[in-house]
Amino acid sequence: MVNSQAIETATEHFGNVLRQQLERVERLKQEPDWLDYQSISPIIIGMLGGDGIGPTISAETQRVLEYLLRDQVSAGRAEFRVIDGLTIENRAAKMKSIPDDVLEEIKGCHVTLKGPTHTPEQGDQWPNIETANVSMRKELDLFANVRPVRVPGENIDWTFFRENTEDMYAVGSQGINVTEDLSIDFRVITSQGSERIIEAAFAHAKRTGKTKVTIVTKANIIKTTDGKFLDIARKVAERYPDIEWDSWYIDIMTAALINPARQRDFQVLALPNLYGDILTDEAAQIQGGVGTAGSANIGKRYAMFEAIHGSAPRMVQEGRAQYADPSSLIRASAMMLEHIGFDELGQKLHKALDICGQYERKVVMTGRSTGATSQAFGDYIMETVEDASVEERWEAYANAQS
Ligand code: IPM
Ligand code: MG
Repeated sequence: MVNSQAIETATEHFGNVLRQQLERVERLKQEPDWLDYQSISPIIIGMLGGDGIGPTISAETQRVLEYLLRDQVSAGRAEFRVIDGLTIENRAAKMKSIPDDVLEEIKGCHVTLKGPTHTPEQGDQWPNIETANVSMRKELDLFANVRPVRVPGENIDWTFFRENTEDMYAVGSQGINVTEDLSIDFRVITSQGSERIIEAAFAHAKRTGKTKVTIVTKANIIKTTDGKFLDIARKVAERYPDIEWDSWYIDIMTAALINPARQRDFQVLALPNLYGDILTDEAAQIQGGVGTAGSANIGKRYAMFEAIHGSAPRMVQEGRAQYADPSSLIRASAMMLEHIGFDELGQKLHKALDICGQYERKVVMTGRSTGATSQAFGDYIMETVEDASVEERWEAYANAQS
C-alpha cells in the first residue's frame, strides 16, 4: 500500500527546498563585482585557529606570514587580526555552526586563514550542528574551492576548481526520510553556479599560461545536473578559443590521476562539489598526503584559506599537537598571498614548501616526537624562502625527474 500521507508531507518539504533554491538563483543573478585588493589598505587578514591541531598550525602560519609580510605590515598595507570563538566548545554552547559575533568579525576581514574545525557526526559527544566549513562557504558565498597539487619532480602541476556551494552540499541536511524505508537527498546544480566556477577555471588557465581545462562529471548517468554542468562548460569554452578543453567521467578520472602515463595531461580541472571533495583528497595523496595540501575558498567579496584535512583530535589527546605539520595551512597562506596581490611572495613560499617538504627534506615531520616540531618546520620554511638560492634549488628539484 502506498502511503499517500507520506507522499504529501515529502512533497511539501520538496516544495520548500525548491522555493529556497529558486530564491538563491535570483540572488546569484545579482552577484557583486570582484573585490580589488589593490585599492584596499590595509588588507585585513583574519586568523581563525579552529579545533584540535588547528591553533598550533595556525599560530605557526601566522608566524611565517608575519615574517614574510613584515614590510607590508609596517607600511600599513596589511594587518593581522586573531578571531577567537570558532571552536567546537563555543559553537556547541551557542548551538550555531558559526556564532553570530564570530561571523561579524569574519566579515570585518578581507581574507581569513582558518585552522580545521571539528565536524560533529552522529553519535559523538557534540550536538549535530552543521559543519563550520560548509556554513562559511555558503554564508560568504565562497563558490570556488581552488586546490593546487604540485609534484615538480614528476611534472605534476594541477589546479582543481571544485564548485563549493552547490551539488549534494547545498541541501545536504535537508534530505527526507519519506517513509521508514525510503530516504531521498537532493542535488542542486544551477546555471549561474556552474558558470561562475567554470569561468573561474578558464580565467585561471589563461592568466597562468595553462593550455587546457578538464571538466569532470558523471554526465552519462547523472544526466540532468551533470548534464547542465557540461553544457555550461561548452558555452564557457567558446569564450576561450585558445584554451583546449576536454571532459572526463569521475570514475575513470580517479584512475587516470594515478596513472603515470596520464598524470601529466591534466592542468586545470573544474568539477562539481562532491566529486571535487573526493578527487582532491586522492590528488593530495600523490603530493604527500592531505597534510601537505592547502585550499582557497574564494568568492567575489570574501576569501577563506584553509587546510584540506581535519582537526586531528587524537594528536591533541595524545599530547602530540606540537608535532602537527603546518604545511597545509602555510600552503594555503601562499595561495592567499597570491590572491591579495603579493604574487611574488606567494610564489616563493610555494617553492620553499616544495623544496622543504618534498625535495631536500632537512626537517622531517612524523606527527610524533620521532620527528620535528611544527615550529622547527616553520623556521626551515622561513630560512628557505628568504635564501638567495631558493630559485636555483627549486629548479634543481624540478629538473631531477624521478
Ligand atoms: C573538505 C572537507 C569538508 C568537505 C568537510 C570537513 C565538511 O572534507 O574541505 O574537503 O566535505 O568539504
Ligand atoms: Mg574533503
